[in-house]
Amino acid sequence: MRSKNIFNNRRDFLRASAATLAAGALPALPSSLFAVTSDSPVRSSAVPSKPQRIIIDTDPGVDDAMAIFLALRSPELKVEAITAVSGNVPLAFTLPNALRLVEIAGHPEVPVAGGAAFPLVRRLVTAAYVHGNNGLGGVEFPEAKIKPVPETATELIRRIVRANPGEITIAAVGPLTNIATVLKSDPGIAKLIKSFALMGGSLSGGNITPAAEFNFYVDPEAARVVFDSGVPILMVGLDVTHKVLLRESHVRTLEAAQNPVSQAAAKIMHATFGRIAKTNDETVVAMHDPLTIASLIDPSVVTLRDYYVQIETAGELTAGQSIGYSHGPVRRSPPFDTGDTAGEIPVEEYKPNCKVAVGVDPDKFFNLLIPRLTASA
Ligand code: BDR
Ligand code: CA
Repeated sequence: MRSKNIFNNRRDFLRASAATLAAGALPALPSSLFAVTSDSPVRSSAVPSKPQRIIIDTDPGVDDAMAIFLALRSPELKVEAITAVSGNVPLAFTLPNALRLVEIAGHPEVPVAGGAAFPLVRRLVTAAYVHGNNGLGGVEFPEAKIKPVPETATELIRRIVRANPGEITIAAVGPLTNIATVLKSDPGIAKLIKSFALMGGSLSGGNITPAAEFNFYVDPEAARVVFDSGVPILMVGLDVTHKVLLRESHVRTLEAAQNPVSQAAAKIMHATFGRIAKTNDETVVAMHDPLTIASLIDPSVVTLRDYYVQIETAGELTAGQSIGYSHGPVRRSPPFDTGDTAGEIPVEEYKPNCKVAVGVDPDKFFNLLIPRLTASA
């Protein structure tokens, strides 16, 4: 567990913020200064008392790496564990990568566990074309000295949640296989999880198919288990993550800072820029996973709206699509005609299961991300 107390963390935070102000960017206020209603972030006068306790479930992954660095350098969060899953690249890479990132960030006390090597029922699809064959843009970092804990990801998550009922938010920024396995293997656990913060889905089209976002596409059945769980969900999807685009100027700022985190982040992003396509004559990388972490640190970075979200699992072309109902009635596809026309075609009651990020302030996000990674502490 992180040993720094909140006072020391805050002192470090203020020192970092002073550097940020000198560079002309305002640091973000701690998250608990804000209460978020459905559509409008509202500032409250409460002073943050203790950091939010989170477990990060992840498939590092170049943007996962940035998300892990951001979380480990943010005093508003206490990272209780990091669990790895197959996704961007196989588990054989994501687990050692998670260990490397934790070590680079100087937090060897954070337990890291390995999880699912394959989706619940489907073949694994990866995204090495974005993340490189090793998941870190092809950049070869030394093997970490720290080792994974002997528990599996699901065992570790269950143990931490059961020991801290109602306290733990799970920030899941990869396919949801580990999280679905936790829920399926321990039916009583859902009511003990404070919330899920998910990078995944979209209400406006996908990135791996026209319908589906990558994390939900890789394991649609797992995503459905999560959305059916009854745990409060924050969904940070492509609707907003495609608006937070890291540019070469950001990478130069990371490069200029002399600390192991910003140096590693700069190397990973520099390599990624070399791999991906050009957009508007400028290469950019969407900061999907870091935005999810930033939404926990400072909820005013995003605007939220209530939805009932459900995941398509039956489609031949649409598996993993997230469908958002903003109001009732909730209609499903018409049943097949079996000749029995007597029964009513079912219409379900509208009951939101999720807050979806529908708006984002990119400047506020980058004014949070970059100073946190470049700060000397
Ligand atoms: C998501 O898929 C992965 O490639 C990224 O790490 C992110 O979690 C974006 O669709
Ligand atoms: Ca990811």
